[in-house]
Amino acid sequence: MSRNMSLNRCLLSRSVANAIRAFRVCALLLCAALAARAQSSPNEHLPAGDAKEKAEAACLTCHEARIIVQQRLTKAAWTKEMDKMVKWGAEVDPKDRDALIDYFSANFGTDKSLYEAPKTKIESKNVESKTKTKSKP
Ligand code: HEC
Repeated sequence: MSRNMSLNRCLLSRSVANAIRAFRVCALLLCAALAARAQSSPNEHLPAGDAKEKAEAACLTCHEARIIVQQRLTKAAWTKEMDKMVKWGAEVDPKDRDALIDYFSANFGTDKSLYEAPKTKIESKNVESKTKTKSKP
């Protein structure tokens, strides 16, 4: 009887230990995810503007902002792009269509400087070492 009880206690403390371990792993994963988010570049978000909230609601359900912010299109091309996305399922209130086209053309028109892809730490290092080697005579 007493042997059984101590076996039970042992099993119980083992499952408590497992639960604590699982909790620790979860906490670590959460921290890593938060850190990765904090590092994401401002290039990855839609910029401030009148139609920003509507654009976020209509355009970020299927893909991230990056696919949008890396474009440099004329207004005619943004119009086509918008209509294509609506055909594909983007929910855009017809009365917001023009405002969204204006917002995208103003922020991601052909007159804007080229999109710079964010670099990971490793990529930045490689670029740095390449530039260093190049600058040597
Ligand atoms: C129903 C899902 C969906 C919604 C909502 C959506 N898109 Fe897309 N979008 C896609 C898919 C699928 C692709 C192609 C992705 C790929 O090629 O990897 C895409 C690609 C794009 C591209 C890249 C060029 C191209 O045509 O492939 C742009 C720019 C774009 N979307 C803009 C928008 C904008 C602006 C909105 C909001 C009005 C929007 N998307 C909403 C599904 C969607």
